[in-house]
Amino acid sequence: MLRSHTCGALRADDVGKQVTLCGWVDTYRDHGGGLFVDLRDRYGLTQVVFNPPQTPDDVISASKSLRNEFVIKAVGEVACRPQGQDNPRLSTGEIEVRVESFEVLNECETPPFTPGQQEIPGEDLRLKYRFLDLRRASTQSTLVLRSHIIKTIRDYFDKHDFIDVETPILGRSTPEGARDYLVPSRVHHDAFYALPQSPQLYKQILMVAGYDRYVQVARCFRDEDLRADRQPEFTQLDMEMSFVDGDDVIAMIDGLVAQLAKEFCGIDLPTPLPRMTYDEAMERFGHDAPDLRFGMELIDCTDLAAESEFRVFRGPAESGGRVRGINAKGAAAKFSRKRIDELTEYVKQDFGAKGLAWFRVEDDGKLWSPISKNFADILLNKFAERMEAEPGDQLFFVADTWEVSCKALSGLRRLLGEELSLYKPTDMHFSWVVEFPMFEFDEEGQRWNAMHHPFTAPRPQDLELLRTSAGACRAQAYDLVINGSEAGGGTVRIHDQEIQKQVFDLLGIDPTTAEDRFGFLLDALKFGAPPHAGIALGIDRIVMLFGGMDNIRDCIAFPKTQKATDLMTGAPGAVDRQQLKELGVRVIPLSES
Ligand code: AMO
Ligand code: AMP
Repeated sequence: MLRSHTCGALRADDVGKQVTLCGWVDTYRDHGGGLFVDLRDRYGLTQVVFNPPQTPDDVISASKSLRNEFVIKAVGEVACRPQGQDNPRLSTGEIEVRVESFEVLNECETPPFTPGQQEIPGEDLRLKYRFLDLRRASTQSTLVLRSHIIKTIRDYFDKHDFIDVETPILGRSTPEGARDYLVPSRVHHDAFYALPQSPQLYKQILMVAGYDRYVQVARCFRDEDLRADRQPEFTQLDMEMSFVDGDDVIAMIDGLVAQLAKEFCGIDLPTPLPRMTYDEAMERFGHDAPDLRFGMELIDCTDLAAESEFRVFRGPAESGGRVRGINAKGAAAKFSRKRIDELTEYVKQDFGAKGLAWFRVEDDGKLWSPISKNFADILLNKFAERMEAEPGDQLFFVADTWEVSCKALSGLRRLLGEELSLYKPTDMHFSWVVEFPMFEFDEEGQRWNAMHHPFTAPRPQDLELLRTSAGACRAQAYDLVINGSEAGGGTVRIHDQEIQKQVFDLLGIDPTTAEDRFGFLLDALKFGAPPHAGIALGIDRIVMLFGGMDNIRDCIAFPKTQKATDLMTGAPGAVDRQQLKELGVRVIPLSES
């Protein structure tokens, strides 16, 4: 080892010891006679001092050539800092190392930014120079958190007799609903591998093969529109179990989540975690991953709206739509007309709402709004009662189809929850949403799609609905929700050929297509498949939520931008013509595609 200690190790107890430290020059301050350097590694910062009398003159003058991010090795004695110069913000803040000799292990060109600087540089610059960005204390602590979370997860499943099995990266298309990343085959010119969107098919086959408790920290690839909580390449904690039902999988994950919450947030989480059906989540919060750190539930007023003369309300109420509202308790004073106009634009632009109606609750408890004149007093009082309105409250309403009212109000609720500080940044809320619909209707394609994937089992009591009313059929599906984010999702799988056939029929997957796409799984299911169920958790999202971050890119060492590019390596990049020729691939220019 070149060093005797890391830059985060030394304390007052070490005073008098001769030590050797290695690290990067985080900051340096030239005090005329000598130099003060904060030496950094991933463990912390230690002040190293080049000062007489401990530091010989020639060493002091050599030290004056040090610059930011030089890599050095410094030898010296640990000493107490002079009185009044302790730095309580540093774990090493009581001591300094008085340098006797040092060596420059490597120099550094003038960097575009320094990891120690206060102001965080723009993201593009950080991603281009990721090696510098990864030297910053906050990115380092995130990656350490990630490593510890993964270790806890692996240990948990190991303790419960799960076997870690690696599944292929080069495979066939997997049915998670996103576009595939394809890899051309050099050997078979007209054939492509697909990178896995998840190990779904392989893990089901492992169940057929008798590995009744499988787990994997699996890399998944999905070519989909990226958002703050999505990456084209991400990591799942993927697991599957045999001879279980959905409750068993949920209980297994409850145990894991409780352990993670204890270890990484110091929370004693009571289990079982609360559960809510999909229908209830949509009705009360307008979202299938509701943020339960705060209330502000959606309240249905469609019946009252139907009584009003206000066409904006009565129209949707009479044509199968919904009029629902939320109550921002005690917040009326916080909503200027300008802010209300901005919120109106927000629900229109982002969710296709036609407008945003609002009322302020006056001191006498009466509702006031520019639109109040459209309502009889007695009806306004009924709205007030339904909305549990009290003086000082601000009410917002959206009158629209069920879908738009869900999207607009849940979006508004999320925004106001944050804006009005209805929860503390450190609050964590964990819950399950269960019994998702089996299918969702694609209006454009006029067809049913699987809400999770086509191997998901319906609830036993809904089997008949497969024949009569697919939209009402509920799945044995469960999502883990943390602070309004979908942190994981899984289902009980179909292991009965007849039900699988019915589901494929409904999804418009004919036997030839089914055979072509997942024939190997269907075959395997005929050879003694046990009842099985599983789940996958999004590890990047979990790290993001446990680390209190709002951007998934901060939780991944080498992430992609919103445009799926890697600014450091320049991927995706052009390839040699020769390489393409070997693969039998010709590129169609953008103008022709
Ligand atoms: P699902 O598609 O719900 O289920 O994915 C499981 C979890 O993975 C995370 N996730 C993502 N994280 C980052 N970027 C993405 N693009 C991304 N997409 C998904 C989410 C999500 O909850 N095979 C099934 C699981 C099963 O049925 O066992 C599956 O992949 O946190
Ligand atoms: P208008 O009559 O269209 O000028 O709308 C009067 C008020 O009702 C405005 O504040 C609109 O933002 C609001 N509004 C219009 N359409 C809707 C709707 N579908 N749901 C809720 N509020 C609406």
